[in-house]
Amino acid sequence: DKTIRIALIPGDGVGPEVMAEAVPCLAWARSRGRNLETLPLPYGADHFLRTGETLPGTAFAELRDGCDAILFGAVGDPRVPDGRHAEEILLRLRQGLDLTVNFRPCKPRVPRSGPALDIEVFRENTEGPYCLQGSTEPGRAIDLAVHTEPAVRRLLEAAFDHARARGCTLTLAHKANVLKHGHGLWMRVFQDLQRTFPEVPAKGMHADALLCALVQDPSPFGVIAADNYLGDLISDLTAAFVGGMGVAPSLSWAPHRPHRCSALAEPVHGSAPDLAGQGLANPVGMLLSTALLFRHLGWEPEAGALEAAVAEALEAGARTRDLGGNLGTVAMGAAIRDRLPQ
Ligand code: NAD
Ligand code: IPM
Ligand code: MN
Repeated sequence: DKTIRIALIPGDGVGPEVMAEAVPCLAWARSRGRNLETLPLPYGADHFLRTGETLPGTAFAELRDGCDAILFGAVGDPRVPDGRHAEEILLRLRQGLDLTVNFRPCKPRVPRSGPALDIEVFRENTEGPYCLQGSTEPGRAIDLAVHTEPAVRRLLEAAFDHARARGCTLTLAHKANVLKHGHGLWMRVFQDLQRTFPEVPAKGMHADALLCALVQDPSPFGVIAADNYLGDLISDLTAAFVGGMGVAPSLSWAPHRPHRCSALAEPVHGSAPDLAGQGLANPVGMLLSTALLFRHLGWEPEAGALEAAVAEALEAGARTRDLGGNLGTVAMGAAIRDRLPQ
């Protein structure tokens, strides 16, 4: 089978620290016969401050046409207060590679009390206010939110498909009562797809009411679909149900495969400047994102084994500080990798 080429972009802050725990998992997959090679890339705040480069055009083209997937740490650095490099690296990858679907599952990994919970957020990943069009005038500022039917349809189709396969409900988060144009489009496409997927129990909910219902009782929810902005907020909230930012994974992909590179795996969390450099970041979000990437590549045994190793390590009491324990990033990563089958 052909070689799978995975670009590695550790980025800023805790990004490189958690990436260092994922890299041995790639070597482990290779040792089990998976044909993969990696392409480490230096882009991030350090590189930007040193060279003035964010993501050069040649590197973007190499990622798009010469790689199959990207494993990403995080970007964001207090030395770049306007976040320009983050925009030109991360948002450019999501948008430039047309990675419409951002899948953010929220499954309990740490034993917890309370009702069962298995929520999966499908966040549109390229549009809404993230188009970064707008203007600032004296006393007035505008951020445009752009929604297009192809992207909305792709996102909602993926969400309906997934809910059908799982046999669970689908809830669309929206504010169509106010955002008549953008979310009006979402409602029309949603209603259209309800006719295509009559077997999926699907309904729309005003996002504000949805957040209240989620916090009161998350157990009835299955798949939640949302635009880019609401999906960003909802997926941090759902992460809080299962242990917080340190454990939440994500995978973005382009269902219509416009380029060779059609997937980006990254934890939901950011560069955590408050933890950076201390070896205290939780690598679980990064490792579960790596597992999602394995699954996307069709490597189900490796995906399942890595998720099981995370679950067993947590079950055995392995905890970083964010989970109330005292392991550092490296020890937590090792506790998980020690449980991988050889
Ligand atoms: P953040 O996710 O970096 O941190 C929020 C909180 O979660 C902090 O208390 C942090 O210590 C904690 N946290 C994050 N990752 C953790 C981990 N692995 N283990 C344990 N605790 C962890 O969000 P923020 O503070 O709002 O943003 C910091 C910077 O990161 C900003 O520049 C922001 O733009 C950027 N950011 C980047 C991404 C990304 O690259 N995908 C995502 C979110 C934020
Ligand atoms: C995320 C982050 C990003 C987003 C930022 C860093 C641009 O919060 O991946 O959730 O808002 O999408
Ligand atoms: Mn976010």
